Amino acid sequence: MTSRFPPGFRWGVATSAFQIEGATRSDGRGPSIWDTFAAVPGAVAGGDTGEPAADHYHRWPRDIALLAALGVDSYRFSVSWPRIQPSGRGGVSAKGIGFYRQLVEALREQGIEPFLTLYHWDLPQALEDEGGWRSRDTASRFADYAALVHAELGDVVDHWTTLNEPYPCAVAGYGEGRHAPGAREGHGALAAAHHLLLGHGLAVRAMRSQARTAHQFGIVLNQSPVVPVTDSAADAAAAARQDTLLRRQFTDPLFGGRYAPGLAAMFAGVSDFSFRLDGDLETIGESLDYLGVNYYYRLHVADAPHREPDPALRTVADIGVDTSRLPDVPRTGMGWPVEPEGLTEALVGLHNRYPGLPPVYVTENGCVYPDVLDERGMFADEQRIAFLRAHIEAARASAEAGVDLRGYFCWSLLDNFEWAHGYKHRFGLVHVDYTTQRRTPRASYHWYREFVAAQRTP
Ligand code: NOJ
Repeated sequence: MTSRFPPGFRWGVATSAFQIEGATRSDGRGPSIWDTFAAVPGAVAGGDTGEPAADHYHRWPRDIALLAALGVDSYRFSVSWPRIQPSGRGGVSAKGIGFYRQLVEALREQGIEPFLTLYHWDLPQALEDEGGWRSRDTASRFADYAALVHAELGDVVDHWTTLNEPYPCAVAGYGEGRHAPGAREGHGALAAAHHLLLGHGLAVRAMRSQARTAHQFGIVLNQSPVVPVTDSAADAAAAARQDTLLRRQFTDPLFGGRYAPGLAAMFAGVSDFSFRLDGDLETIGESLDYLGVNYYYRLHVADAPHREPDPALRTVADIGVDTSRLPDVPRTGMGWPVEPEGLTEALVGLHNRYPGLPPVYVTENGCVYPDVLDERGMFADEQRIAFLRAHIEAARASAEAGVDLRGYFCWSLLDNFEWAHGYKHRFGLVHVDYTTQRRTPRASYHWYREFVAAQRTP
């Protein structure tokens, strides 16, 4: 029996544009860095690309019907920047914005609140060709794009999220080369992190200056608590480095009015941080109406030698840690440790660290397991149900500990393109057959529907 959440608590599911839409060349959409990256042999498992994904661009009415039948009151999705501005600058593409307007209006007709994310990793390739997030100008381009979308859809959207997970954009994208644009840099990746935050602050300012009172502005961050594998001083220091790179690099400027202490010292010899200009901290720290937290797992960290002894040649990912020593706990189908208490820890930790923290939503939480078919041929994903149930309980525990928690979004409505893993890992409450595009709700879809309905029963 799961305890009840307060009335008004939002229950939703989440997706993102590149992961479900497909139709990457339709209606004047420009190429994004993920189209370019996925075309590089070996970059994405199985040679998978953004085609066909779940062909949501054409099948969205069916997907809205699935949302309505699920009974969620909120839906988190993202807008594809290269559909709105194919080259990352200039006017709004009528077809691009038209797609999102019809989607949002149809959501509203079903009584589902749209939570719109402006940037879920699909930077227009034209901007990457000019430096991408390494370049300060990209922050201004992002603010322009945000203001355009906000001006177009402000009458039908109240919840505006600037960025989804700037950490992987900067570190996996510009540091480790695992994500688009596939770079392995030190200074460039730190600059990317800074310019993502700057773009966020500029975008909030630009949107707020033209906002209606109901509008709420937020950001979504991935928050893995970092745990040292032993109580040695070296492992504790390694965990602190990891926490600085993964979390405090972002949360300290956003909510603490400072750059993360220790970040510059960690990367002495890698970067001179010359991208930090006067006034940036104020811009980044623009007040927010909510923080979205994505939680999947905790990170277990040991001290380890740097891979590159010469600091000048180090990438941003080379901080002298080993994250391969996992605890003896169950793992998901992607090998991620299942530790629901990490969600409580992440939320309570933020609440304690930042006194002015805005209200919080869990904007993503979910898992992958190999599909099991029962005797009736139904996707019987009991492990996913157990995972979600335990994590929702962990979210509730954080609220009891004082966190101002406003909602929970499961990742994801549909199976989708799991970035460098391609289509082989499936997070959906709904199974997608990528050949026929048939949607089949899994047992977890029915469980979540009943769970949400029970929360609403007086
Ligand atoms: C976080 C990302 O926002 C989302 O795009 C991704 O699919 C999930 N994590 C699962 O890895």
